[in-house]
Amino acid sequence: LRIAVLFGGRSSEHDVSVMSATNVMRALDSKKYDAVPVFVTREGRWLLSRFDGGELARPSEGTELCLVAGGEGRIVAIPADGAPHELTKIDVLFPVLHGLFGEDGSVQGLAEVARVPLVGCGILGSATALDKDIAKRLLLEAGLPAARSLTIREDAAPTFADVEAALGLPVFIKPARQGSSVGVSKVSSAAQYEAALAEGFRHDRKLLAEEFVRGREIECSVLEDTEGGLFVSRPGEIVPAESHGFYSYDAKYIDEAGAALKVPAELPPEVEGRIRDTAASAFRAVGCDGMARVDFFVTEDMRFVVNELNTIPGFTDISMYSKAMAASGVSYAEVIDRLVAHGLA
Ligand code: DAL
Ligand code: MG
Repeated sequence: LRIAVLFGGRSSEHDVSVMSATNVMRALDSKKYDAVPVFVTREGRWLLSRFDGGELARPSEGTELCLVAGGEGRIVAIPADGAPHELTKIDVLFPVLHGLFGEDGSVQGLAEVARVPLVGCGILGSATALDKDIAKRLLLEAGLPAARSLTIREDAAPTFADVEAALGLPVFIKPARQGSSVGVSKVSSAAQYEAALAEGFRHDRKLLAEEFVRGREIECSVLEDTEGGLFVSRPGEIVPAESHGFYSYDAKYIDEAGAALKVPAELPPEVEGRIRDTAASAFRAVGCDGMARVDFFVTEDMRFVVNELNTIPGFTDISMYSKAMAASGVSYAEVIDRLVAHGLA
């Protein structure tokens, strides 16, 4: 089975995607899969990569690749000086891309147009889950718990006093469509608010001001089977180091001691059960299929809110998706097999 693994990409999570895809490549059983790694440059060019068992090649130039519309998975090579020719036919596309232009429905739409089966979530759920503003509306509409928030647009940003009155302090300012905490700030003063807006608007035209929910970060992996049934993993917990204040980009990927993972999380069984049920409901409410990691905040008195859904969750060394699945009896290799089977179904 020939499987094209897309990685890198145009979003600010480019480097995270490289880490994720390296792990995915290692986990792909070479007896079952003929993996074709495709590096997506920061500019969005698709270049053929190579995997030597350790690192994924990130070529800066070479033959550009593209998927042919209606071509049942045909990948065509377009040399700079020469005639385009068919490079290979792939059976399934596995985008290991995070954020915009990869996790947001765009590549999923490309797969649909090219008539190639896709690993993971389809167009609708990808697009809604990536937009924290839209996802939150769908969660609330389904009666699911989410942190209170205000939507902020560049031409209509509320004053700091309005934000404080509505949500209390501190608040988080987040780009609506970013991952890995890129562009996220924790704000307690008017000056910090102005700086946080400026930082946030560097990443998106739409931001959220969100109430601070003091609590633990708990995450569940959701995997859909070929019949449409949902497997929800046991929850895991992210414990960020005190020094980082919250689970920021640096705490995630730069500082090795930035956070610890505790899988499964220590929770009363009844609370764990409700969190797992809510993860499944959130997955449905936001229109997901295939896969997502559903992230929660759980307060000391065991109330919880859904923070967000990630339809292409990190597969890095420190990422939760595969660890929570493993703690629930599903190995990394089995996760990949099930994802591919879902894509082909
Ligand atoms: N956005 C990162 C990759 C995650 O959710 O794991
Ligand atoms: Mg995310």
